[in-house]
Amino acid sequence: MTSPVFLGMPKPQELRPATRPGRRYFVRTFGCQMNEHDSERIAGLLESDGMVPAPSLPEADVVVLNTCCIRENADNKLYGNLGHLKPLRAANPGMRIVVGGCLAQKDRELIRQKAPWVDVVLGTHNLHRVLTLLDHAEEWGPVTEIWEETSSVEDIPSALPVHREVPHSAWVTITIGCNNSCTFCIVPIVRGREISRRPGDIVREVQGLVAEGVIEVTLLGQNVNSYGRDLDMNGRRPLFAELLRRVGAVDGIERIRFTSPHPKDFGAEVAEAMAETDAVCEQLHLPLQSGSDRILAAMHRGYNAARFLDKLDAARAAIPGLAVSTDIIVGFPGETEQDFQDTLEVVARARFDSAYTFMYSARPGTPAADLPDQVPPDVAGERFDRLIELQAAITLELNEGLVGERVEVLTEGPSRKDPSMATARSRTNKIVHLPGEYPSGQFLEAEIIAAAPHHLVGRTA
Ligand code: 5AD
Ligand code: SF4
Repeated sequence: MTSPVFLGMPKPQELRPATRPGRRYFVRTFGCQMNEHDSERIAGLLESDGMVPAPSLPEADVVVLNTCCIRENADNKLYGNLGHLKPLRAANPGMRIVVGGCLAQKDRELIRQKAPWVDVVLGTHNLHRVLTLLDHAEEWGPVTEIWEETSSVEDIPSALPVHREVPHSAWVTITIGCNNSCTFCIVPIVRGREISRRPGDIVREVQGLVAEGVIEVTLLGQNVNSYGRDLDMNGRRPLFAELLRRVGAVDGIERIRFTSPHPKDFGAEVAEAMAETDAVCEQLHLPLQSGSDRILAAMHRGYNAARFLDKLDAARAAIPGLAVSTDIIVGFPGETEQDFQDTLEVVARARFDSAYTFMYSARPGTPAADLPDQVPPDVAGERFDRLIELQAAITLELNEGLVGERVEVLTEGPSRKDPSMATARSRTNKIVHLPGEYPSGQFLEAEIIAAAPHHLVGRTA
């Protein structure tokens, strides 16, 4: 369908009284932080309608699956979940099932063809319509509504109510969509062209969050470095580096993170802004994807291994103590053992603090899905294991190097595994477990006394 024009209209939650007081909802999120943030807004909208969180999925009146389609296993997970929901929905005729997000945007009617017990399907551009579509489903039966694009910058859902799990920490969307054309990636298809929010709106949102008790924000965009390229502010385009400084100047913001920059657009001005803005954490997620120049070109990434490493060196020189994480895809079509060796070499040289590693997954509709020489799964799997082994050794070595250091940590509440320990996070985004009970949102100084592959152990002075 074409996008309805929504300019200047009141937001949906302002139009209606709460119509579902005491009904219970459960939101299950697949995928990235953008989806997590969208889920917070869906939860916020449901709460604005009087609903409360359900303790578990089977106890919910409204179940929302917020989906991801970045790799094929994300698809499989959704259809597996819908299979489990079928008997629950049959036993509880009052239950409503909503499927939203990227896979819904991609699969549309196919979702209800495969799972006719789904009540509402909505895409990435119209999640603010969730209450209206639930009403529609009550009155008229199942509904699928997908918009082709976000109709106005006002509809970027940061303005929607939000239910935040960690009260002191918030995500703030700065751009939606992506104008790049990485040949493996389905995001531009399901999230659309890039739209930036105006800097003043972002700063006002951060000020509002501080007033609610937030002290840490993570700025979100598919490619934060291209922030502002679509804006025209009296003949000038605002830059991401400027935005970082403006957000850093908001009184009361203690920690700023952002995800993700694109290496091709990551310039010295951003590293400088990071270094000069006290609240910006010493943490950078810089997705490498591959260490082979041939594969990087086939991926359409716009940089080669040497340029990536130069930018990394420059960022580390500008920001002392910088921790760097990355994303790497193994088994992109045409990847040879030599290409993979190049990736191992760059990983050894880059010494990332952590890496998210993925086996290439062909996404129909993307250019790479049609390339010849798809790598057999057993070959990709074996390379994947070797990469993980190398990165795990580097991560552990870097973590062990922190033993004896004193670091500032921010508490997040009791550890899930051991409630006698508290979980906290360093500015470099490392998890630090500490003995004792601390309220969430408290700054402590911790001495690191032990290191593990995925966390550190500390004690307070
Ligand atoms: N196959 C495997 N990994 C992918 N990613 C994106 N698309 C694919 C795909 N088709 C990875 C990239 C990206 C991260 C979010 O997901 O590494 O940075
Ligand atoms: Fe996908 Fe590339 Fe855009 Fe990231 S920059 S969302 S990998 S197309």
